[in-house]
Amino acid sequence: MSMPSSLLQRRAARLGPNVSTFYDTPLHILRGEGCWLWDADGRRYLDAYNNVPHVGHAHPRVVAAMSEQAAQLNTHSRYVHTGILDYLDRLTGLLGHGLDQAVMTCTGSEAMDVALRMAQAATGATGLIATDNTYHGNTSAVTALSTRRPPIGGRPPHVRLVPAPDALSGLDGDIFAAHVAEAATALQEEGFGVAALIVCPALANEGLPCPPAGFLQPAAAQVQKVGGLLIADEIQPGFGRLGSHWWGFEQQGLRPDIVCLGKPMGNGYPVAAAIGTAPVVSAFRTAFGYFNTFAASPVAAATATAVLDVLEEENLRQNAEATGAALLARMRSMHHPRIADTRGHGLFFAMEFQTQEGTPCPVTAKAVVEGLKARGVLAGAIGRQQHILKLRPPMVFGPAEADLLSTALQETLEALPDVP
Ligand SMILES: Cc1ncc(COP(=O)(O)O)c(C=O)c1O
Repeated sequence: MSMPSSLLQRRAARLGPNVSTFYDTPLHILRGEGCWLWDADGRRYLDAYNNVPHVGHAHPRVVAAMSEQAAQLNTHSRYVHTGILDYLDRLTGLLGHGLDQAVMTCTGSEAMDVALRMAQAATGATGLIATDNTYHGNTSAVTALSTRRPPIGGRPPHVRLVPAPDALSGLDGDIFAAHVAEAATALQEEGFGVAALIVCPALANEGLPCPPAGFLQPAAAQVQKVGGLLIADEIQPGFGRLGSHWWGFEQQGLRPDIVCLGKPMGNGYPVAAAIGTAPVVSAFRTAFGYFNTFAASPVAAATATAVLDVLEEENLRQNAEATGAALLARMRSMHHPRIADTRGHGLFFAMEFQTQEGTPCPVTAKAVVEGLKARGVLAGAIGRQQHILKLRPPMVFGPAEADLLSTALQETLEALPDVP
């Protein structure tokens, strides 16, 4: 049975236009478990895309922790509760590097918004530097960093975007740093100063170029040299996705002043955070206070704690490393004239497609995403032109699931229309 058009019409009528869905025929998913999703017709799909259900859809341990705490107490953070303190003791222990204090939020966007203000409060400067092919969230301040839909009235002058590193043009950390230095100088000359460089250490939304270790260090040094802070957006690489490390900044050998966490943190429960060094967070608290009704609640703490429990007890970071390496090797053995590059780190993969002329090929990426879906595997596309296949499954994706995905990908590539 295909998706009834009445349901899509009802959705458009109630949610408004331009509320996107994935796939030519959108999915109506009713149930999830581990790496699997079931649609309204009972068809099962292997989820190779979603990073929010980090320890697997509907993980019983997480569901139990959430519901048991909800059955006991859920209040806002103006009452004292040890749940969030115990959680943050544990989380900051995993982060290290003096990242000791947290502002809890409900979404990654809020965490990024707070992080920008932390940097501005701590430095007294307002200038912000980000890449020109990124997304850090949906608040008014954070949207100013996005390229795709720039703010109405134009980008504010205190925001400077630098060319995003690109895997196919060659990754040179010194060139990236030179762009950052140029942006920093311009911000200083214009009187904004440099509050922060905001960057995802895996450059996930930039197309996952898989920067080599240390790639971002020269850029970070340029900003820190002029008194700016480094904000690491760990919303995608954090919590062990890269397998080799808990955090993307560790893989890059960076010492961020602030990290932002979100998506995987609550396995679907809305919990996120901006975590900084004590002086940075103190400057923010002094300047702004900050209260967020639903953040730092006992249920948020119980849920996020259960996510850490499962990650550690089920060795999911180690699984990401081992399963990810094996799957990447298989993906790299696949050939098609449109494949320009296949790369990955842990359970995070990109397969980039180009035309014969060497330009981005979104048509192939879309055909692969649809072909995988037809074979029961869910994937997505990224890149400036949506020309890069993106795979980012839940961390419980094991060798059996990797086998299924490889077979479906191989079959999909073989079934693509002939190209000269
Ligand atoms: C790198 C990055 N930062 C921030 C966000 C915003 O997070 P949220 O959607 O939870 O507000 C996203 C969301 O896609 C993201 O990919």
